[in-house]
This record gives sequence, C-alpha cells and structure tokens, in this order.
Amino acid sequence: MSNFSKGFMWGGATSANQIEGATDVDGKGLNTSDMIALGTMAKSRLITPTIQPDCVYPTRHGNGFYEHYEEDIKLMAEAGFKAYRMSIDWSRIFPNGDEREPNELGLQFYDKVFSELKKYHIEPIVTLSHYELPLNLTKKYNGWANRKLIDFFLNYCSTVFKRYQNVVHYWLTFNEINCSIISLGNYFSLGILNPKTKTIDHQVDNIQMRYQALHHQLVASAKATILAHQINSNNKVGAMLAMMTDYPLTSNPDDVLLAQQTWQIRNFYCGDVQVRGEYPNFAKRFWADNGIHLKIHSDDKAILKKGTCDFLSFSYYMSHCVAADPNNQEQTQGNLVGGIKNPYLKSSEWGWQIDPIGLRITLNSLYDRYRIPIILVENGLGANDQFTASHEVHDPYRIDYMKKHLQAISEAIKDGVDIFGYTAWGWEDLVSVSTGEMSKRYGIVYVDVDDQGRGSYRRYRKDSFYWYQKVIQSNGENL
Ligand code: BG6
Repeated sequence: MSNFSKGFMWGGATSANQIEGATDVDGKGLNTSDMIALGTMAKSRLITPTIQPDCVYPTRHGNGFYEHYEEDIKLMAEAGFKAYRMSIDWSRIFPNGDEREPNELGLQFYDKVFSELKKYHIEPIVTLSHYELPLNLTKKYNGWANRKLIDFFLNYCSTVFKRYQNVVHYWLTFNEINCSIISLGNYFSLGILNPKTKTIDHQVDNIQMRYQALHHQLVASAKATILAHQINSNNKVGAMLAMMTDYPLTSNPDDVLLAQQTWQIRNFYCGDVQVRGEYPNFAKRFWADNGIHLKIHSDDKAILKKGTCDFLSFSYYMSHCVAADPNNQEQTQGNLVGGIKNPYLKSSEWGWQIDPIGLRITLNSLYDRYRIPIILVENGLGANDQFTASHEVHDPYRIDYMKKHLQAISEAIKDGVDIFGYTAWGWEDLVSVSTGEMSKRYGIVYVDVDDQGRGSYRRYRKDSFYWYQKVIQSNGENL
C-alpha cells in the first residue's frame, strides 16, 4: 500500500532563467540573472553591471527550453508528471519592470507553454520570481531596497494572474525568499547591487538595507496572495523556503542553542510572516542585536495578516551542523550557505551532504509549527554524469538519492505530515545557480549542452527517467 495520497502531485521543477535561453528575443529585457557569468565550484561567479565580451553568460543558452518546450512537455507526460513547477521570467512580461503595459510576445510564450501542459493534464505550479528581476529595477531603484518595487511587482502579478486565470491555479511568490537572511540574497533575490560587489559570494552587505528590502518583499508577497485570491478564488498561493536544516554538532547546550537560533532566523523568520502573518517573537531581539530598524508602514501588519499563504513549499538538498566552539568548524559546501561537516554523512561531488533522514526531520518540524499542506518543490542530486557513446546515462547514484528522499517523505506521511507533492529539481539538466555550470547535472533527462553552451541541445532519457516513471506509475509504492 502506498502512503502517498491518490492525487499526489508527482513532477519536476525548473526556473525560467536556468532553462529558457533566448535572452534577447521577443522583446525580453535583461534581468539580474543575465548579468552573472559562468563560474565553477572554486571560482565564484562574477556579477557584471554590463555585458562583457570575454564572459560566458549561462542564461543566454540555458538548456534551450524556449525552442524545445513542446518536446520537453511531451517528455514530462511520458514520465507521468502530474505537476510541473516552473517560473515566469518577469523581464519577458515587463522588460523594464516599471512600465504600465506588458510585452504581448512574452505573454504569448507562456500561453503556449500552459496550453501544452493542459494538453497532457499537467498542473503548472508557477513561481512569480525565481532569482531574477528586470535589470532596470536594479539600476534605477536598487531593487527591493526601494518600496516602489511592491507596486511594480503587483502590476506584473495582476497581469499574469488575469491572463492565466483559467490555466494556472498554483502560484509561488518568491523562490527561497529566506535567501535574503544571508548576504547572498542581496543581488540574487533582492536585486540590490553595491558598485563594489564583484562576485555572488562576496557581496558588499548592508544588513539594514537587506532586511528592509526583505520586508518589502514579504509585504509584496502578502499583497500578491490577496490579489490572487480576489482574481480567482480557486487560486492557491504558496510560500517557498530554502530549508537550511542545521544540527548541533555536539550535545553541548551551547551548540543546541545555536542550532535553535539558526533554525529560527534562517527558516522561521520568513516562514512565520508568510504562514502566521506576523514576525516571530525572536525577531525583535534579532533586530536589536543587529542594529536593524525596519520601516513598517501603518497598514503593513494588517496586510501581512490577511495575505497568508495557502500552503508551504520548500527546497531540500542537504543538512549541516553548527558549533559554538570556534576551533570546531570544519566546513563543507551547501545550497546558499555552507556549514560544518557532519561525520555521519557523505557528500555529493559539490560537497553537499546527503541526508534523507534530515528531510523527514524537516517535514515534521515544519508541519508541527505551521499545520498547513506542504509540497517539496526542489530536491535532487547535482552530479557529473557520463554520457555514453550510445547516448545513455547510467545514474544509479541519482536513483539512490531520490529513492531515499522519497522513502523519507513516505515515513513523514506516516508520521502525520500533510504533504501533497514532490517536484524533482532540474528534472531536465539545466544551468546551476551557484556555479553557472551545465555539467552539474540534476536531470532524469540529459540535455546535450556543455558549460559554454555548446552542444546539440538534444534530450536523452537517463536510467533515472525510467525509474521515476515507475515510481509515479505505482504512486510511490515501488520505492
Ligand atoms: C536552489 C534554487 O537554491 O537550489 C535553484 O532555487 C537551484 O534555482 C538549486 O538551481 C540547486 O542549486 P545549484 O546551485 O546546484 O543550481
């Protein structure tokens, strides 16, 4: 007997800027992600305020989805997908971000994508802003640091909510909104660019500005949620968090306290605003300790309360440890943040520690706290796949990763957690956010493109494709 519900939303996930390519066609404007050059695990990605002739910009090629969307959606259907988590590129709809009228050609592209999905009964789950905003909003307003962004964002939301009201019913406002808890969020998520910042990993940080900008985003998210419900009462709007699962390295109470504080700020600060509709009890002390003075408008509190989300979504790839002792700090890499190595866990080739039990712990913690339906919208293994001469990819390591994480979900369901879907991250190979590489492959479908954007752009099913197809066919019974 499967533990997964009858209508469980099995599927895959991507973001526009990591797949579409076609950055200069059909009236699209430049966005913040278009200005981040190719890097590697050892070499942080450069942020260039203008396009440099000697840099490779991975969003320019993506994996070719803009041209290949029909073929890709057919493959999704073949795998048995019930849902596809994707994002709309704001700069296709409003090339500058601050104009009143949208770009019709940009809207038409997503019309085609949604109608293709409909053909195969695949439910779109659409992120409104996935690590990009029109570059003009950065240059002219310094991104979300400026409160005007709330209105620009709502104009964009209103346009797409109305246009796609008959085809999209699941929306996510901001991808990994809690990315702005750390300085990486400045440019990635908030579109704030200090002229002295050169790379994504070493951004000049103004914590006051960052938290103020995050407040604007949280208000915008709540307003968008209210608007989505007004436009179509069937709309369901979700929060989206990057789960940063941290354990105390030892049972020393100092470590345990530090782990609790880390969870509070990294995961619950945004989660509480979006689900409970208010800043948490620990926020005041955090602001005071860090010299943060938020400008909160008189009606913001009521908006946050009214605009709470219908469900919670999150990404989960790994866990870390934290330790209070400064001499006990052997670091490893991670999604958005690194952390202390856990002696009990193995890591991926990119140094991300693999921890399926951590997923079960995370699901239980989130559901205990929030008691609303949960969907896992990102999970997967980035690996160096070998593409054989006969066009095959044998990826037992990916099958093993996915299987163990799905088993953890199955256990969490038995624990009583209400989880209604799973969309495998990068179900077709795409550009990595942290390094810009195509060679950090997540897909169950191999896309023949290299880090420089060279290749045939043909799609090939990996072994994991056939495995996942069977899992979906059996509704998770064959794990
Ligand atoms: C999440 C992002 O942080 O992690 C995705 O939402 C990203 O956009 C994913 O691709 C995996 O990270 P990376 O750096 O391996 O691409």
